[in-house]
Amino acid sequence: MSGRHPSAIEQAASRRIVAAFLVSAAGAAGFAVTYALGGNTRWEGICLAVAFAGLAVGLAVWGRRLVPVGGYVEEHEGFTPSPTEQAMTAAVLQAQDSPVRRRGLLAALGLALTALGAAALFPLRSLLPSDRARPVRALKDTPWGPRVRLVDAVGRPLRPEDVPADTVVAVFPEGHVDTGDGPAFAVRLEPQRFSRPPSGGHLDGLVVWSLLCTHAGCPVRPYLKGAGRVLCPCHQSSFDLLAGARPVAGPAARALPGLPIEVGPDGFLRATGDFTAPPGAGFWSSP
Ligand code: FES
Repeated sequence: MSGRHPSAIEQAASRRIVAAFLVSAAGAAGFAVTYALGGNTRWEGICLAVAFAGLAVGLAVWGRRLVPVGGYVEEHEGFTPSPTEQAMTAAVLQAQDSPVRRRGLLAALGLALTALGAAALFPLRSLLPSDRARPVRALKDTPWGPRVRLVDAVGRPLRPEDVPADTVVAVFPEGHVDTGDGPAFAVRLEPQRFSRPPSGGHLDGLVVWSLLCTHAGCPVRPYLKGAGRVLCPCHQSSFDLLAGARPVAGPAARALPGLPIEVGPDGFLRATGDFTAPPGAGFWSSP
C-alpha cells in the first residue's frame, strides 16, 4: 500500500465505501420486498443484517481511510476553539476536496439511509385496518377452508380409511404442510361414546381437531386410547376427545378447536371451513 499514490488509495477507498452503501441499500430494499410478499422472518433478518453491515462497513472505511488520522497533539486550553481553529476547521470542511464533502460518498450514504428509513416504515402496514396482514386477523385465519383437502406430512391426500380406529393421524391443509397454525390430527372414535359432540362434527366417528394445545401452543400427544384423551407434554394439559376435546387437566382453559370435514367427490377428506375457534394459545383472543 505504501507504494501507491495517496490519491489512488483514496479513490479505491471511495469505491469500497460506495459499494458498501449500495449493499446496505440493497439489503434494506430486500427487507421491504420480503415483507411486502408476505414476510419470512429468516430472510427479513438476513436482509436487515446485510443493510446494517453495509452501512457499518461503509462508515468504518470512510472514517479509517479518508478522514485524516495521525499522532496529533492538541494543546487543549479550553472547550471553545480559538477563532483561528474555528476558521481552519471551517476552511477544511468547506474546501472542495474535503473528505466529508465528497458528493459521491454523501449521495451513497443518503441512499443507504433513505432505503433503511423506508424499509422501517413497511411493518407499519400491519397495523392498518382492512389489511390481511393485520396481526389479529392473521392469527384468526388459518389455511383451512372449504374444499381444502387433508394431507399427511408428505402432502399425500387422505381418505377416511387412512385413519384407523383409535389411532391419531397428523393431518395438514393441502399446500400448507409447513404453516404453524394449520397442523391438526384425525382420530376415529365410537360415536356412541361421545358425551358431548365434537365442535367440528364427525364422519361416522372420524373427527379432526387442531394439534396445537390451547395453553401455549405445543403439539398435543400422546393419545390415550381407552380414555379417549390426548395429552400435552409441555405442561400436562389433558383434553377429553369424547367430551368435545375440552380440557380436563392442566393449565389449558379452552377446548381444542374442531375442523369440520366431509368426503369430497374424489373420495378424499376435505374441510368444509376453518377451525371452529382460533387454534393454539389463547393469549390474544378477546373475551
Ligand atoms: S402448552 Fe400445553 S399445557 Fe402448556
